[in-house]
Amino acid sequence: MRIAVTGGSGFAGNHLVEKLVLEGHKLKVLVRKTSNTKLLKEQGVELVDGDVRDKKSIEKLVNDADIVYHLAAQFHARSKFELWNVNFHGTENMLEACLNKDLSRFVHVSTIGVTGNIVNPPGNESDSYNPTTHYDLSKCEAEKIVLRYHREYGMPVTVVRPTVLTGPSALHLRLYKGIKSGYFPLIGNMTNLMHPCYIENFLQGITLAAEKRKAIGEIYIIADEKPITWIEFVETIAEVMGVNPPNIRVPISLMKVIAYLFEFKSWMFGGEPFLSKWWIDEVTKTFAYDVAKAKRDLGYNPEISLKEGISRTIDWYRKNGFFK
Ligand SMILES: NC(=O)c1ccc[n+]([C@@H]2O[C@H](COP(=O)([O-])OP(=O)(O)OC[C@H]3O[C@@H](n4cnc5c(N)ncnc54)[C@H](OP(=O)(O)O)[C@@H]3O)[C@@H](O)[C@H]2O)c1
Repeated sequence: MRIAVTGGSGFAGNHLVEKLVLEGHKLKVLVRKTSNTKLLKEQGVELVDGDVRDKKSIEKLVNDADIVYHLAAQFHARSKFELWNVNFHGTENMLEACLNKDLSRFVHVSTIGVTGNIVNPPGNESDSYNPTTHYDLSKCEAEKIVLRYHREYGMPVTVVRPTVLTGPSALHLRLYKGIKSGYFPLIGNMTNLMHPCYIENFLQGITLAAEKRKAIGEIYIIADEKPITWIEFVETIAEVMGVNPPNIRVPISLMKVIAYLFEFKSWMFGGEPFLSKWWIDEVTKTFAYDVAKAKRDLGYNPEISLKEGISRTIDWYRKNGFFK
């Protein structure tokens, strides 16, 4: 199949491209001048220079595609306008470029953040939209317009909402390093539920979503089999690394003040905040979901367990020299 991918230079996109190439598909991947294309070049895929905000470059990306995977998104942005431009208008541009093309599927990667904190867990695909951050709001409106293109123009779209993606990536290095060093602060009691999604489980879900006819016009939550408490997550990482679990506890209110100071510093001088209010919400609120719909409609079966995923991630960090 001819497949077009946006966000292929990112964490999930890199893994997706690798899987699709292994399966023998012909890929075009949208990259920016600043994208890290090392792994993509190793995969031998066709790189299309552009940006989701630039309609012309997207046209070249999707003109002969059978399937489009749209993963490009901005999470850390200097302003809410940038989030909106990339996450919402970028998606709208992708949809416009794909309209009247002979696509078998447009897979849009959304986020479970569109439904916000889950009051009565587990959450599912019928929960109402309740985005609580500018990022989630931009992703929420993007998801809505994707579904609108299906309703109004019959575009064969499928929306997948991953929970927090885990796996080999420098993204989670700080968490692992913090736990390894013993200086990872536990924020509050951390008995709230979180729901990871190991990258290979995600890849299984997203590719099934692109294949199954039943998935057209539908939304699927893609996550590991079960949610766990944050403390369980942290303790399992410590166990697999063979170190003592962290025991420094810091009240949520104090961490919020510290996060505020880091965010203020970023606002003044740029760069990502070392600690953010978003992160504190992530580790103190409840995010737990039911993957029954993906199992029923797609045959989704998240095979990689929490421990196995953590173990593979640690092996990758060791192999790539991030730590011994
Ligand atoms: N990671 C998670 O836990 C998580 C959870 C739920 C949903 N998601 C969703 O999953 C998708 C992939 O996430 P990820 O963690 O892999 O993200 P990521 O590592 O931050 O990668 C983002 C990708 O989007 C590209 N991108 C950003 N702005 C762009 C623009 N203006 N034009 C074209 N490409 C642009 C980036 O290109 P550059 O390399 O050039 O920066 C990169 O390839 C996103 O849609 C995200 O919202 C992620």
